[in-house]
Amino acid sequence: MIPDLPADIDTIKGFLAEDEAQALYQHALQASALGPVLEIGSYCGKSTIYLGLACRANNSTVFALDHHRGSEEHQLGEFFHDPALYDAGEGIMDSFREFRRNIRRAGLDEVVVPVVAGSEAAARHWQTPLAMVFIDGGHSLAAALTDYRCWSAHLMRGGVLAIHDLFDDAHKGGQAPYAIYRLAQASGLFENLGQVNSLGFLRRL
Ligand SMILES: C[S@@+](CC[C@H](N)C(=O)[O-])C[C@H]1O[C@@H](n2cnc3c(N)ncnc32)[C@H](O)[C@@H]1O
Repeated sequence: MIPDLPADIDTIKGFLAEDEAQALYQHALQASALGPVLEIGSYCGKSTIYLGLACRANNSTVFALDHHRGSEEHQLGEFFHDPALYDAGEGIMDSFREFRRNIRRAGLDEVVVPVVAGSEAAARHWQTPLAMVFIDGGHSLAAALTDYRCWSAHLMRGGVLAIHDLFDDAHKGGQAPYAIYRLAQASGLFENLGQVNSLGFLRRL
């Protein structure tokens, strides 16, 4: 039971399963007592709401990073394309309007700080230590590696790295998130906190 979880949370567009959302909230609840949380890949704000509610309980902040132009699979003609999130005039995806609406309706405007930019550009001058980094952005190998390299370096000791869409079987999903998960484990910098569904958690030693 998550206090203040919007009653219509299941209607918010997104890609987080119920058990993953619960686990994300519980880890964020612990981690955000140490400092701010950053997610890469907010889309319409579903994961942001779980992170935001956890951060609010600790007077903390969630930086919600997304260029809101969609990943490869959201583009026109691709499998996860949503016409309601397509700006036909400009010919581009735009999930920011829907994101802002959902965050406002959840009462989280004071907790969620949107960073509307590409992951690499946003990281260029970033200096704030992070208590939790949730990676759920682009799923190409280049994008996942960029997210891991740019953002895991900002995790404070004891901070949590969460990576979504981990599939050890290539038939079930893309392998890029799993590749950075293995990279993090091989680095010796993290303790494994286990996996819930396709969401893995590691703690920075
Ligand atoms: C799978 S969706 C995120 C789903 C979301 N976490 C949820 O709970 O439903 C991936 C998001 O990552 C964003 N994205 C992809 N590549 C990015 C990049 N290089 N920089 C910033 N955002 C990116 C896309 O715009 C998209 O909204």
